[in-house]
Amino acid sequence: MPRIELSKLGKRYGDVEVLHGIDLAMEEHEFTVLVGPSGCGKSTTLRMIAGLETVTSGEIYIDGNPVSHLEPKARDLAMVFQDYALYPHMDVARNMSFALRLQKVPQAEIDRKVRDVAEVLGLTALLNRKPAELSGGQRQRVAMGRALTRDSSTFLFDEPLSNLDAKLRGQMRAELALMSQRVQKNMIYVTHDQIEAMTLADRIVVMHGGHIQQQGSPEELFKRPANKFVAGFLGMPPMNFLAGELQARDDTLCVVGDSFTVALPPALAERCQSHSAREVVLGIRPSDLVLDAENTAAATERFTLDVVVTEYIGAQSVLICDCASQRMVVELKSDVPVGLGQRMNFRINPDGIHLFDAQSEVAI
Ligand SMILES: Nc1ncnc2c1ncn2[C@@H]1O[C@H](COP(=O)(O)OP(=O)(O)OP(=O)(O)O)[C@@H](O)[C@H]1O
Ligand SMILES: [Mg+2]
Repeated sequence: MPRIELSKLGKRYGDVEVLHGIDLAMEEHEFTVLVGPSGCGKSTTLRMIAGLETVTSGEIYIDGNPVSHLEPKARDLAMVFQDYALYPHMDVARNMSFALRLQKVPQAEIDRKVRDVAEVLGLTALLNRKPAELSGGQRQRVAMGRALTRDSSTFLFDEPLSNLDAKLRGQMRAELALMSQRVQKNMIYVTHDQIEAMTLADRIVVMHGGHIQQQGSPEELFKRPANKFVAGFLGMPPMNFLAGELQARDDTLCVVGDSFTVALPPALAERCQSHSAREVVLGIRPSDLVLDAENTAAATERFTLDVVVTEYIGAQSVLICDCASQRMVVELKSDVPVGLGQRMNFRINPDGIHLFDAQSEVAI
């Protein structure tokens, strides 16, 4: 039984429809991440679940019960916003217990909850400090602690890490993952950062233009993207897309483009047979091109590229290359010497070939 379910959930502001009837079922204790570009409707969805926005159409169910008519506080949810605004005159313990004190929870119980949550979040030594005496990451943890002490069944996060610098984001991401394992609650987390989504989620929901593009485990979406948008959104550096046409060569179905001919693996070739499209987009992730220094790959398993720019990023280098008229990015171990303008051969990892209908952009 899913804990939270959205059924044909729609939102309209005046004449503008911003959510087009989305369906989503989250399992118990699942960490669900809503991810997508700015304006795609992530916060609106989260705020509707929280009860901070009205529902235009469809319904939200919690444990099978419709809740869209309920006030936020009747929904048993706790929300952590991007702008977490702690009370500056209260110490960490009092910030964390604020809601409990309002509810007149007995002091002994408040103390116990604050102690437990502080332990989980690594805040025990900081309970008597004021927010001004904390680092950004510690403040962020206090904001989460404030939500966690409320013991709700579900936690909603709207870009909680976006105020932090890159290093702290990485640390907090790891802490969040650890925390969610410990507390075993439902988590719904909004971000536009695909790395956060990939690392934290049990279920990723990719949104675009008020529609769900695809949902599933990070691995499912990475390996089998349903369309070109999802394929290009997840993964860094992003997937390469090359225009081509399906053509048979010596009984083998190939994608033929400007200066390349790539044979399709049998399963993919079979799917193409039942597909009407001849104009396609070939998708290859930068990590699915393997250097073929000896030039042993067959002509239909090979890409010959001219290196235009090399970006050294530590263990890996990113090569930006020309493939005739199109650009292609390749990831390579950085101990391989590469000169600008060099022509290099790459073999394609056979599992790494993705194909999309050029018109509909749906995966074949
Ligand atoms: N109060 C409002 N009135 C009219 N339009 C709104 C209102 N709030 C949001 N929108 C529009 O709804 C769409 C979705 O907004 P939403 O805040 O859900 O996006 P988001 O995915 O959270 O984006 P971001 O990553 O920038 O936070 C946007 O096009 C936005 O302009
Ligand atoms: Mg938002």
